[in-house]
Amino acid sequence: MSIHLKAINCFYGSHQALFDITLDCPSGETLVLLGPSGAGKSSLIRVLNLLEMPVSGQLAIAGNKFDFSQPPSESAIRELRRNVGMVFQQYNLWPHLTVMQNLIEAPCRVLGLSKEAAIDRAEKLLARLRLQEFSTRFPLHLSGGQQQRVAIARALMMEPQILLFDEPTAALDPEITAQVVNIIRELSDTGITQVIVTHEVEFAKKTASRVVYMEQGHVVEYGTADAFIHPQTKEFAGYLSH
Ligand SMILES: Nc1ncnc2c1ncn2[C@@H]1O[C@H](COP(=O)(O)OP(=O)(O)OP(=O)(O)O)[C@@H](O)[C@H]1O
Ligand SMILES: [Mg+2]
Repeated sequence: MSIHLKAINCFYGSHQALFDITLDCPSGETLVLLGPSGAGKSSLIRVLNLLEMPVSGQLAIAGNKFDFSQPPSESAIRELRRNVGMVFQQYNLWPHLTVMQNLIEAPCRVLGLSKEAAIDRAEKLLARLRLQEFSTRFPLHLSGGQQQRVAIARALMMEPQILLFDEPTAALDPEITAQVVNIIRELSDTGITQVIVTHEVEFAKKTASRVVYMEQGHVVEYGTADAFIHPQTKEFAGYLSH
């Protein structure tokens, strides 16, 4: 499921965060967004599931098409979010629900899955992410890395065609980061398209098949993972050398 952005402009009030972004991500690729703080990485990834609404441009993602010359309908946005999952840095798990309840809530409510089918799906995912033993725990009784894996499992419950991650390893130690690398690689083997925002160049190198380097709301460099070895712009080369 591919992603196409054309001439996307996005503002917060009078502050322009994204300038004329045009970008393609073919199906099955893992696209990593890199750049200094304030470059617009989070803004761009949030545009992909319309948590931020551009003022102009076009977006085609997982078969959903938007032209921001008109505001999209609520139903079109809901349909988009069925196909495009997001994992946040802050996990955003529901604290009053157990791990299992966190996982089955949206599939039952949004997809209309039966409770049995949802539990079955959840058990398979918990096993895959090595979280079986935690299914009856509450999120606050888990480590940061465990919570992050639950958040990934919860996003996968919706069987999204595209999965977005904003700084998935920001609060994690190296060992847990390595686990997240493995999860992302396993997911990419299943053909899912992934977009990842990160500050960590090593993490980016281990996961990316494509890379975007941004500064001040502009795409400065876009290429395959080869760009880590042969950056085409002095800006990206400088960023990599820090
Ligand atoms: N909700 C908001 N309201 C106003 N301005 C915002 C908002 N969110 C982001 N901005 C501004 O938009 C620009 C891009 O921010 P964004 O969060 O996309 O950057 P980022 O590349 O994700 O940075 P970081 O690496 O620090 O997370 C920044 O100048 C930021 O101050
Ligand atoms: Mg950010």
